[in-house]
Amino acid sequence: MTRPLNVALAGLGTVGAGVLSLLRQNADLVAARAGRPIAVTAVSARDRTRDRGISLAGLHWFDDPAALARDPAVDVVVEVIGGSEGVARDVVEAALAAGKPVVTANKALLAVHGAALAEAAEAAGVALAFESAVAGGIPVIKALREGLAGNRIARVAGILNGTCNYILTVMREQGREFAEVLAEAQKLGYAEADPSFDVDGIDAAHKLAILAALAFGRPVDFAAVHVEGIRRVSALDFVFAGELGYRIKLLGLARQTEAGIETRVHPCMVPQASPLARVDGVFNAVVAEGDFVGRVMLEGRGAGAGPTASAVVADLIDVARGRTTPVWGARSAALSHAPSVPMAAHVGAYYLRLMVVDRPGVIADVTAALRDAGISLESMLQRGRSPGEAVPVVLVTHETREAAMRDALARIAAMDAVLEDPTLIRIEPA
Ligand SMILES: NC(=O)c1ccc[n+]([C@@H]2O[C@H](COP(=O)([O-])OP(=O)(O)OC[C@H]3O[C@@H](n4cnc5c(N)ncnc54)[C@H](OP(=O)(O)O)[C@@H]3O)[C@@H](O)[C@H]2O)c1
Repeated sequence: MTRPLNVALAGLGTVGAGVLSLLRQNADLVAARAGRPIAVTAVSARDRTRDRGISLAGLHWFDDPAALARDPAVDVVVEVIGGSEGVARDVVEAALAAGKPVVTANKALLAVHGAALAEAAEAAGVALAFESAVAGGIPVIKALREGLAGNRIARVAGILNGTCNYILTVMREQGREFAEVLAEAQKLGYAEADPSFDVDGIDAAHKLAILAALAFGRPVDFAAVHVEGIRRVSALDFVFAGELGYRIKLLGLARQTEAGIETRVHPCMVPQASPLARVDGVFNAVVAEGDFVGRVMLEGRGAGAGPTASAVVADLIDVARGRTTPVWGARSAALSHAPSVPMAAHVGAYYLRLMVVDRPGVIADVTAALRDAGISLESMLQRGRSPGEAVPVVLVTHETREAAMRDALARIAAMDAVLEDPTLIRIEPA
């Protein structure tokens, strides 16, 4: 058999240890599929003494991951440290500069620096592979970039963050509030001690920026993504959503519109019968709509050692076989310059929940603010009656422009009878 592919692992946390373990456990089938053995020969992490539950005997340890990336004995570098700056970026840049292919799970790095890194990989003539960066074990990068390459993609929609999907699922099933479910998820290890990257939608936005670049063949543009997280969704919204025939999901959405590409991450009301509505717990799913293929949906585990290692090793097998595809599906010079559409131009229907004082004239004032902004109502729900007290009122609009909705909302929020910041959830077709 030909010489093994020597892999350097920069990072030995959840994903790094998972890759090491998969390559050992499935060594024979990986070698058969790669046409040569794939062996980790060098590793780097912060703490050499830490027990990682896996033997590092015989592996060359580097304190400095950038030095590992430059080591002539290394054929390919796997970066599984994380973060868009600092050491992770240094390792990837050092490896590409040394003419070595890179496999990374780092969505933050790709979302922020993906355009420049793709150019560096092209200049070096090596692969920069990142199947594991989006939706963990689901092969969504290959599906969009290779499997659907003949299609014009109209829309991509995904549940891209397992932590948020888990929290929203438990809130709906158990009628509990966000803060309580988050605290429990942290105890169970489903949410980080600092959960903001997940619950504020940033992690999903990194992944969406990557998917949008692939779907629409343009340079990755994280700054253009409109991002809202799930902190403002309450148990009450699930009750109303159920009555209206919806589920609440944090979605990443990228859509081709006449004005350009719309990219957004926010909580959505999705029809209960739609396939994404039924993806619960820590699962991820991505739906892509192509002009020839129609609708394709992929679902699976979006995180964890096993699923993420599965995607990293798929990339390593491509590297071993010499299979390369331009990072964003086409060479940098051939990417399109389709403009990004600002969120204010978005057109859609809205769910608006208000806590208002139950007294005559309040609903008339609210509906007048909507009417003045040119927004028409599809339905209205009021929960209970309690004169002089706060009661929830839900208004569902017909399709309208986001800018008009924001104007109306500012007027409504300023009314004395409106007691809390209104909750606005966009309604997304199936
Ligand atoms: N976890 C998942 O399910 C998942 C899924 C998809 C993608 N990803 C991505 O995969 C990457 C790694 O995630 P992870 O969950 O495996 O993270 P992790 O468990 O926190 O592991 C990070 C690793 O990087 C090492 N590291 C951190 N700073 C370093 C430095 N300055 N020098 C050398 N090594 C350093 C750490 O060393 P020590 O161990 O010595 O502290 C640790 O081994 C991230 O980009 C993440 O977004 C993760």
